[in-house]
Amino acid sequence: MLVPAAAEARDVPLNSLGTSAGQAQRRADGTILLRPGATVRTDLAVREVHGVTVQLERRDRCSANLQVTARLGDQAASSVIGRTSRTVSFRLTAPAGTTRVSLSLTQLRDKAKDARAKKRRAQAKRRRAQANARGKAKASRRRVRSHRPRRLRPRRKVAVASPCQASLLLRGLSVLERLPLNAAMTTAHFGQDPFYQALFTQNFDGLTPENELKWASTEPQQGQFTFDAGDRIVNWAIANGKSVRGHVLVWDYQNSSYVTDPKDFYLLQHHWKRAELIAVMQEHILNVVAHFRGRIPEWDVVNEAFNDDGSYKNNVWYQVIGPEYIALAFRLAHQADPEAKLFYNDLGYEAGGPHTEAVLNMVRSLREQGVPIDGVGFESHFDISAGSITERMRPVLQAFANLGLAEEITELDVNTGPGGVDKLAAEAELYRQVARACVEQIACQRVTTWGYTDRYSWIGSDRQGLPFDVNYQAKPAWQALQAEARPAV
Ligand code: XIL
Repeated sequence: MLVPAAAEARDVPLNSLGTSAGQAQRRADGTILLRPGATVRTDLAVREVHGVTVQLERRDRCSANLQVTARLGDQAASSVIGRTSRTVSFRLTAPAGTTRVSLSLTQLRDKAKDARAKKRRAQAKRRRAQANARGKAKASRRRVRSHRPRRLRPRRKVAVASPCQASLLLRGLSVLERLPLNAAMTTAHFGQDPFYQALFTQNFDGLTPENELKWASTEPQQGQFTFDAGDRIVNWAIANGKSVRGHVLVWDYQNSSYVTDPKDFYLLQHHWKRAELIAVMQEHILNVVAHFRGRIPEWDVVNEAFNDDGSYKNNVWYQVIGPEYIALAFRLAHQADPEAKLFYNDLGYEAGGPHTEAVLNMVRSLREQGVPIDGVGFESHFDISAGSITERMRPVLQAFANLGLAEEITELDVNTGPGGVDKLAAEAELYRQVARACVEQIACQRVTTWGYTDRYSWIGSDRQGLPFDVNYQAKPAWQALQAEARPAV
């Protein structure tokens, strides 16, 4: 699960937590040492909470696993802490009002240890039975020879290990009260427009590089990687405390021409062999993902693989490799960065229909095959006439959430058609509806708009698709987005 950036979370001061006597011990540095059986709790006054993040440090070297259970209002979720320390996020929601948040710790039975002990007992029993049998046979032979009494061997002493004292240090607890709001950004305007970067940093929690990580930008010639623009935008985001989504590894657009229009040595048309194109894809994914490992925590691995009728897009990957190109891309991305969260991203499947069914079937099958996919991105390039979209998105978001996938709105914009301030209220309502669908669904963890100012919108300034106008003034759409994603507490 993703750890929300600090900007979206509210820290709960540890000294405001009530602790159960005995197993929870406050330390001088403000942290709390928890032993199995410990509970800590507090009451929060909230508008709406989307989750709890806990920083824990394992303090013992016992083999037993510890289970931390977080409760938020009447919801509960647990996580198992092995021998390493970690930050755990619980996706729980609580409605407005006063909500109780609590954490409790239990020690799980060490199944492996139990199994080993059982095996040892069974072996000992077998040995005793064998020894007994041998003893009886010997004794009867002895009885024949003499009637000397048997000397008893002294019993072997068994060392009993003292039980291991498991403990966890609670270093921090925060609640996620806001849904992160990100925007796509591009270096094309960096340094050219004094407002572009400044207003982004004031208003947004993170960014998606709009073009800088696409194939044509990162590997323009086969085997020659160029990361200048990618590094520039990613490092700028990180330096400003903003999160980054990686976009995109495998797609049918913005590829280098050697991928889609390969030529042989004599510059004649080359026809990819399956193994060749797999090798090309492998080299690309491994290099790009490894380059940004530790800086980009989340990638769109495959983009837009389906047509709206639910059939696979007949792109170069599908033609040469077959539908397995999708699973392969995910496995390669995971190989390059096992920590990264991997998403399938698409448009036109947000509100049900054959396209939705096709994506659902595909991701279900990936999960069944054990392919490392963590989430799905709903691009959400809507038109002003999209209508009651919350209602239509609700069952779709639920269906993907039921597969255990994270979700995001990844490229939101609303095309108003050409011009007219009279359309801004309707646009705002659509923004509100999309954000509402995400807020309501616990698996939906972020809203990203595709750009943020109409000055630089891929659908054209006159379509007024974004939450800020061409002069960087916030539009009603921005108020609507904020009201849903960042309710005032
Ligand atoms: C768009 C960019 O915004 C443009 O600058 C570029 O010319 C074309 O691509 N779906 C996606 C995005 O996943 O990558 C696309 O971005 C918009 C549609």
